[in-house]
Amino acid sequence: MSLKISSFEEYQSEYNRSINNPNEFWAEKAKHFYWREQWDSVLEWDFKEPNVKWFVNGKLNITENCLDRHLETIGGKVAIIWEPNNPNEEVVKLTYRQLHEQVCKFANVLKNNGAKKGDRICIYMPMVPELAIATLACARIGAIHSVVFAGFSAKALAERINDATCNIILTSDEGYRGSKTIAIKSIVDEALESCDSIQKSIVLKRTGGDVSMQPKRDVWLHEEMLKVDETCNAEEMDAEDELFVLYTSGSTGKPKGIVHTTGGYMVYTAYSFQNVFQYSNDEVYWCTADIGWITGHSYIVYGPLLSGATTLMFEGVPTYPDAGRFWEIVDKHQVNIFYTAPTAIRALEACDIDFVNKHSLSSLKVLGSVGEPINEEAWEWYHKNIGKEKCPIVDTWWQTETGGIMISPLAGITKLKPSFATLPLPGIQPCLVDSDGNEIEGNDVEGNLCVKFPWPSMLRTIYGEHERCKQTYFSTYKGKYFTGDGCKRDENGMYRITGRVDDVINVSGHRMGTAEVEDALDQHIDVVESAVVGYPHDIKGQGIYAYVICVKEVNEDELRKELLEIVTKEIGPIAKPDKIQIVKGLPKTRSGKIMRRILRKIAEGDTSNLGDISTLLDPDIVKEIQKGAENI
Ligand code: PRX
Repeated sequence: MSLKISSFEEYQSEYNRSINNPNEFWAEKAKHFYWREQWDSVLEWDFKEPNVKWFVNGKLNITENCLDRHLETIGGKVAIIWEPNNPNEEVVKLTYRQLHEQVCKFANVLKNNGAKKGDRICIYMPMVPELAIATLACARIGAIHSVVFAGFSAKALAERINDATCNIILTSDEGYRGSKTIAIKSIVDEALESCDSIQKSIVLKRTGGDVSMQPKRDVWLHEEMLKVDETCNAEEMDAEDELFVLYTSGSTGKPKGIVHTTGGYMVYTAYSFQNVFQYSNDEVYWCTADIGWITGHSYIVYGPLLSGATTLMFEGVPTYPDAGRFWEIVDKHQVNIFYTAPTAIRALEACDIDFVNKHSLSSLKVLGSVGEPINEEAWEWYHKNIGKEKCPIVDTWWQTETGGIMISPLAGITKLKPSFATLPLPGIQPCLVDSDGNEIEGNDVEGNLCVKFPWPSMLRTIYGEHERCKQTYFSTYKGKYFTGDGCKRDENGMYRITGRVDDVINVSGHRMGTAEVEDALDQHIDVVESAVVGYPHDIKGQGIYAYVICVKEVNEDELRKELLEIVTKEIGPIAKPDKIQIVKGLPKTRSGKIMRRILRKIAEGDTSNLGDISTLLDPDIVKEIQKGAENI
């Protein structure tokens, strides 16, 4: 099945066609897939509600498209290559036939344990093949998967389980990450103390470590797998049936369960995968993300498998056993397409170049970047040292909410411009708006990035909170989806994402709400109030800077230590502030609003122009904070 565009002229004509006649365009793409029943109409939409339906009344199962459909033609082709954390442990390769069998068996295990269509099943696992298998097994039986990144704390996991009222959790005893062993099951045990909805936890034996199993509730996956056979007919799903929920952070409140549905997500992830990366048949593709994030969902699991690709999964981290691990894996598996995040590039750039030069990297053809803006220096380093100046870099802009890549070069087709995501994919209609909500026409302009027409893999709702979905994404600018990002369009119409314009920060490619971190800090008994902002960080892109007001004189070092522990417990280690400054007060307006602009400037170390501070309740506090910041 090829959905591939092969020249820039074709891109332009396809793009125009997708705008002038979206229904015809997407119907043509959707026909490449296996549908049990065809759709009645391609698209129904209303951004006011919002209410968006693609391939209305179409019936399908996405796993029949990821697996069954390939059995006759490429059943013996490797679907998943799994590279373990420890380079000396054996690699696992699963052909499409073997993956199909494993998914069917796992699906039967789910059924034996009471799972049925429409259930929400939480998956909290390390990056092992069973994670991909579990995800597909849920989709096979029509259960909605909610994968939670295994770096989140027990508290954060419980919050997500409860929000979606999951009845089953799929997990493992422990996980390996670099030199560490992570106690996954005991985190789950702690989380489940506050989750009434969970009836069963199915546990993979990964390390063989000692874990406690609660009778009746906890079962071992390997024992359950012995009880089932490998036939499992796929559940027939409506195109608009929910496929998964994935939690992400916003500027306010608790994390949002972004809901994606079946038909449109399938068509768009495969279409974008094949076009952006220009995947061809025998290539090995590697995306270094974790399946706990949207990148892993769309471009480790669904997009590649729908396209019959060989997708590599890596259990470990880029610096274990040493900083050459990525490049060793590229050579070992002859990886052709490599997709990673700028933060990883910058971290590896900071290491000795010998870690790169020891390896040939001659198999590489295409490089990708995702998750945050890639600065020019990192882009050039990636291009020169990894791509040897012959591999196009696709800088892919998208979001959990968009489901798939929205703005990106097509490898080898679109002209590149460092740190520009360049042009929208066919079917995507971005626009820039000013603060009054007026669309900014023409080129060489800057504004807030919106999308003005539906695309197949867009979010449909926030789980259980449709009104919040409307407020967050469809109310700021009437009739448009608002991304939360700022963006420039250069004189040639190329797009450059400049970063978030709301209180969301992007730390090492992980999206975080400053409010969430503040809520965690405020849990400390000595903390009265806190304010968190992002600041430029050489490796992480953005670091977390926390200003904290205390009730009394404290031992600052001890308080800092305790605050890091609290954040780790409430959210997870990824949310730990890099800098904590204890302050006497915060710059507030007379109406009590914190002037974050000032705090951002101080955190950046740019205090030359703090702007007008005369409207502050206590302008003197600014000087005091500035002075304190010098010692942080
Ligand atoms: O600010 C943008 C940034 O990451 C945000 C989305 O985060 P998340 O939902 O976690 O998804 C990340 C993986 C798709 C966006 O609002 N972002 C993502 N990709 C890029 C980017 N910023 C600049 N350039 C990119 N290529």
